[in-house]
Amino acid sequence: MQMQLDINGRKIAVDAPPDMPLLWVLRDQLGMTGTKFGCGMAQCGACTVHLDGQPVRACQTPVETSVGAKIATIEGITDKIATAIRASWVKLDVPQCGYCQSGQIMSAVALLRENPKPSDDDIDAAMQGNLCRCATYQRIRAAIHDAAKSLA
Ligand code: FES
Ligand code: FES
Repeated sequence: MQMQLDINGRKIAVDAPPDMPLLWVLRDQLGMTGTKFGCGMAQCGACTVHLDGQPVRACQTPVETSVGAKIATIEGITDKIATAIRASWVKLDVPQCGYCQSGQIMSAVALLRENPKPSDDDIDAAMQGNLCRCATYQRIRAAIHDAAKSLA
C-alpha cells in the first residue's frame, strides 16, 4: 500500500503493508538506523520515536496508524530541548554500549517538553519503559536534571 509519511518534517512516500511496524519502515526501507530494534515487543524502548510529540514504540506501531501524524526520530530532533539533552548526555558521559540511548533520548526529550523541571520520581516514571542492559540509569537521571537546569 502506498502511504505518505511525515518524517522529521519531510514528506516521504513509502510502499508497505499497512500493518508493517513503523520501525521496519524506518530502518529497512528508509535506512534510518538511529532508531534501534531491541525486543520487538514494546518491552525495551530501544525503538522509541515521537508521533505528534508523544513517545511511542515503533516496533508495535503499524505504519498505517502513523499516516497523518508528525513522526520524529533521533535523526530529526534538533530543537532547544533536544540540543540540551544531547549536550548533557555528552557532558555526563551517559552511554555505555549506546544501544538503548537513542530511545532513552527520545523519551527524555518528550519528558522535558511536558515537564521542564522533573523530580527523580517524574524521571523514573517517564523513563521506566526504556531499559538499559548496561544500567546507565543513574547517569540518565543526572543528565536529565542537568539539561533541565541548563534550560531554566
Ligand atoms: S524494540 Fe520496540 S520496545 Fe523493544
Ligand atoms: S548503554 Fe548499553 S544498553 Fe544502554
